[in-house]
Amino acid sequence: MPTLIVTTREGEERAVAGQAGLSVMEVIRDAGFDELLALCGGCCSCATCHIHVDPDFAAKLPPISEDENDLLDSSSDRNETSRLSCQIEFSDALDGLRVRIAAED
Ligand code: FES
Repeated sequence: MPTLIVTTREGEERAVAGQAGLSVMEVIRDAGFDELLALCGGCCSCATCHIHVDPDFAAKLPPISEDENDLLDSSSDRNETSRLSCQIEFSDALDGLRVRIAAED
């Protein structure tokens, strides 16, 4: 299984195995990181699954949709590495992906 490396808001880093085909949000949530609320369950309507993604992987990520872009605009912690983790499908191509859980809004 591909590995996802997650950094919490407190700066703790942990590598977790994630099943390809799940969203990055599901991989993070299933690994027990309860600070990623993902309140809408992945339907791109809450922005509580906001993460910052390692820029080295930017080219491997799906393009950002208009809805995702609009939702991210509501976050004060948004920057050029921001994504909604429910909108990224985890896969072998993303093995070793580093993400940081964004600040709470
Ligand atoms: S879980 Fe709600 S937007 Fe991602």
